[in-house]
Amino acid sequence: MPTILVTGGCGFIGSNFVRRCLEALPGSRVVNLDKLTYAGNPTNLGDLADHPRYRFVHGDICDGPLLARLFREEGIDTVVHFAAESHVDRSIEGPDAFVRTNILGTFALLEAARAAWPAPSSPVTRHPSRVGRFVHVSTDEVYGSLGETGYFTEETPYDPRSPYAASKASSDHLASAYFHTYGLPVLVTNCSNNYGPYQFPEKLIPLVIHNALTGAELPVYGDGANVRDWLYVGDHCDAVLRVLEAGRPGQTYNIGGNNERRNIEIVHAVCDLVDAQAAPLPGGQSRRSLIRFVKDRPGHDRRYAIDATKVRTELGWTPRVPFEEGLRRTVAWYLTHREWTEAVMDGSYREYYRKMYGDRG
Ligand code: NAD
Ligand code: TYD
Repeated sequence: MPTILVTGGCGFIGSNFVRRCLEALPGSRVVNLDKLTYAGNPTNLGDLADHPRYRFVHGDICDGPLLARLFREEGIDTVVHFAAESHVDRSIEGPDAFVRTNILGTFALLEAARAAWPAPSSPVTRHPSRVGRFVHVSTDEVYGSLGETGYFTEETPYDPRSPYAASKASSDHLASAYFHTYGLPVLVTNCSNNYGPYQFPEKLIPLVIHNALTGAELPVYGDGANVRDWLYVGDHCDAVLRVLEAGRPGQTYNIGGNNERRNIEIVHAVCDLVDAQAAPLPGGQSRRSLIRFVKDRPGHDRRYAIDATKVRTELGWTPRVPFEEGLRRTVAWYLTHREWTEAVMDGSYREYYRKMYGDRG
């Protein structure tokens, strides 16, 4: 029975993953280590509190002694590492937390795994395979920005442009280095933009849904023509599970939705879905009238697009949820979980939101 340490399991992708993992791997135990930053909400997994194969630990991935104790006492043999500071705009405002959690935290986790999973001595190979499996979850933003054409492959050179992307790039390099240097069975995934339930309403899609519901302005950076490759969160979780089960240690797998959209197209689509699913605005006008083109994000990457051939051909993974269906489900989820959005925006996030957008929310 594998005992899986999931870090950041109270965040957006982590909470979706924990749920899926417990279902998909009935022989597994999951220990969820999360610091509960503004982005982590234990209520995301509140219904699992009494689950016999699930344990929540409130703690920081930078805390080496805590990690050592968890590996020893829980018998951790698998790590799926999601914990991170994840928002580009925040990394521009204050990069410190990104360097600390994304770089130093990943380093602490790799060290804890290296200490807990000793390499058997071998006369043949200098660093024979250790027990264990360490999946390091990362982003396509490490590759920088594409022009009008082309795709990111696993061979694309790293070229991060934001403090967030740079901190993730650094952690990817550390993770790969631990494979080459110490034989730690590390697998790296680089995924495109996710959307779906439980995403914090600071990212484009949930922010636009929230503002469209409350009648607030919808900020579109620059000309709205930046392109992202959108993937439904459940599909990403399935891909991570495939990499966990069948990926080759030392390899990187790009994961994407094959679904490029300009930001303005996303905002239009959300407006139309909210108009269709929610009560009309008091003036009866379409939500598209709330769109405002605002000052661009500094260093705003123009286009991301993933070539996911490797994960498809090697591991048989392809996205299953068509974008229109995924977006419809997502809008419906936020409509029926308005108390969730209110609750997560109740804390320090509100102050940040006011600073960025005034009192429009
Ligand atoms: P999120 O911000 O929603 O959640 C991050 C979680 O990590 C939170 O629960 C938070 O409390 C926890 N955390 C933060 N610092 C911690 C620390 N020091 N110790 C322990 N826990 C800590 O993030 P997300 O969108 O779910 O992203 C998860 C991972 O996936 C990240 O590594 C991110 O880089 C990567 N990723 C995200 C996307 C995306 O579109 N959201 C795409 C590709 C890759
Ligand atoms: P975001 O969800 O922050 O993800 P990332 O920056 O990691 O891709 O942003 C997605 C795109 O939407 C990105 O091009 C920036 C843009 N954007 C806006 O136009 N307005 C907004 O309010 C936000 C949050 C993002």
